[in-house]
Amino acid sequence: MRIPRLLQAVLVFAGVYFGFIIVFDYLLGAVIPKSLLTMYMFFVAAGVFMVFTYDEEDTRELVAPVKALVEDPAKRGIRNIVFTLIPLMVGYFVYDQMQPGFEAPVELRTIHPAPPSTAKIYGQRVNLLSLENPYRKLEKEDPEEFAAMVNDGAAVYIKNCQYCHGDKLDGKGPYAEGLNPTPLNFQDVGTIAQLQESYLFWRIATGGPGLPKEAAPWISSMPVWQNFLSEEEIWKVILFLYDYTGHQPRSWEHE
Ligand code: HEC
Repeated sequence: MRIPRLLQAVLVFAGVYFGFIIVFDYLLGAVIPKSLLTMYMFFVAAGVFMVFTYDEEDTRELVAPVKALVEDPAKRGIRNIVFTLIPLMVGYFVYDQMQPGFEAPVELRTIHPAPPSTAKIYGQRVNLLSLENPYRKLEKEDPEEFAAMVNDGAAVYIKNCQYCHGDKLDGKGPYAEGLNPTPLNFQDVGTIAQLQESYLFWRIATGGPGLPKEAAPWISSMPVWQNFLSEEEIWKVILFLYDYTGHQPRSWEHE
């Protein structure tokens, strides 16, 4: 039996579609991005259409089943079903697309703007290039005292920061879903593991309003902690952030 041309066209299209998925997912071990697949399939559809409508006879054969469905009085039953199902499917598709998502809208912005070389913190101009965590040296010199400092930092964190940055420091605090930009996830190697302690000190002390112009449009909810915490508390909470996540602060020597 000869396969009707319309079915042939559909089979070729489906074959290529699943072919892409099989080659990418199973052979190359990489999931093909949906947007890329859509683009490929657009060209495949155009190609299939061109080949299957090469001459008039081909074209007539291709559209014959569709024509029959629309015109043939004997096909009334199927026609009614098809023309009810299509709007329903389109309706469902649109409904599905309209479900609200909780992802923040994509916005191009610099998450880690270059810090200024000096900044006004606690009323004084500090040089961010030479600023160091005064407690960091205790890590080697007096581990017990250091552990106590980390503990103090943990208390500062739980009292002030976990609402947004989360009790596991993963940026999933109870307020996080309502905020855009979202509070940063310190477990992620893309945040504090890339930064120096002086950078964190600057960001924590001056918060969202302290961000430079290049980081616009900034609507960060990160508070200006120099208004609420002492300098010592900020340095201690920084110790805690690194200690809990197991990250090392970046330092000039390692660059
Ligand atoms: C009201 C919510 C909120 C609270 C509370 C909060 N933050 Fe944030 N924080 C944010 C948001 C939102 C960002 C991301 C936007 C930005 O960088 O300003 C952020 C960013 C940061 C960054 C920048 C990290 C990076 O990779 O650039 C640090 C460091 C930070 N917070 C530390 C803290 C510390 C420490 C506390 C507690 C003393 C705290 N935050 C409390 C909302 C909050």
